[in-house]
Amino acid sequence: MTEQAQETNDPKRIDGKKSARRLLKGVKARVAACTERGVTPCLAVVLIGDNAASQVYVRNKERRAKKVGIATRDHRATGSTTEELLTVIRALNDDPEVDGILVQLPLPDNIDSDAILLEIAPDKDVDGFHPYNLGRLMIGRPRFVACTPQGCLHLLEEQGQSLAGKRALVVGRSTIVGKPVAHLLLQANATVTIAHSRTQNLAEEVARAEILVAAVGRAHCIKGEWIRPGALVIDVGINRLEDGSLTGDVEYEAARARASAITPVPGGVGPMTIACLLNNVVIAAERRAGLRDDA
Ligand code: GUN
Repeated sequence: MTEQAQETNDPKRIDGKKSARRLLKGVKARVAACTERGVTPCLAVVLIGDNAASQVYVRNKERRAKKVGIATRDHRATGSTTEELLTVIRALNDDPEVDGILVQLPLPDNIDSDAILLEIAPDKDVDGFHPYNLGRLMIGRPRFVACTPQGCLHLLEEQGQSLAGKRALVVGRSTIVGKPVAHLLLQANATVTIAHSRTQNLAEEVARAEILVAAVGRAHCIKGEWIRPGALVIDVGINRLEDGSLTGDVEYEAARARASAITPVPGGVGPMTIACLLNNVVIAAERRAGLRDDA
């Protein structure tokens, strides 16, 4: 048996690629329903600057979008100013054929990222980063939920255990992952703790967690021996090692020995992020096509 086949058969390994394929199958069918009504779902993708990782991410997003029948509208530029980019966003906001707007982050240092994200119309904010959508999540009435957090919750829910009353620990407090994941877990009635760089005893916090979401961005900073036996572990970290390979925030093998299930890196949360983005685009298109009454 090949190494990959063995991995696939590992009952503890949460297969994000498989879950993403399932989600995308549903998205594709819903895209077709929109298209039948004369509405072709369309995602505008804005990439400013020449960040190599961003270029790869954007290419993958666009490729996946096309595969499920979502049209894309590209805006690429280098050397733009905040004002110029605001003008681009306003034009996309006003374009009735654009359902979703994605501004790939990070933006170059000369651009005011907060001002740009604030300018995106909340009903086209398929990344879920606009303060309006973050606020909706916080009050328990989410509309567009950020893609990586949404992906984490999908993977947890697919494990078939209720999250209600479980002790959940989120490590990392970013606005695009840690905080929204914590709110989604809270909405699922978990008892949620957020740990961060000033947390006093991370090992102790991890040892208590029945659900662990690691979103730090530092390779292997969560030690396998800290994991509570039977915990569900979601590793959001994508860290590049010196040899060029990718690895997560959690020591995978040692954590796997203790956990009941764990996401690998790569092949865990990553594929879900794109699937959830396209899910958000089709939600926006369904609203335009009159296929949803939650507008
Ligand atoms: N950069 C890193 N992650 C993301 C993401 O989910 N969306 C966007 N727009 N940029 C990112």
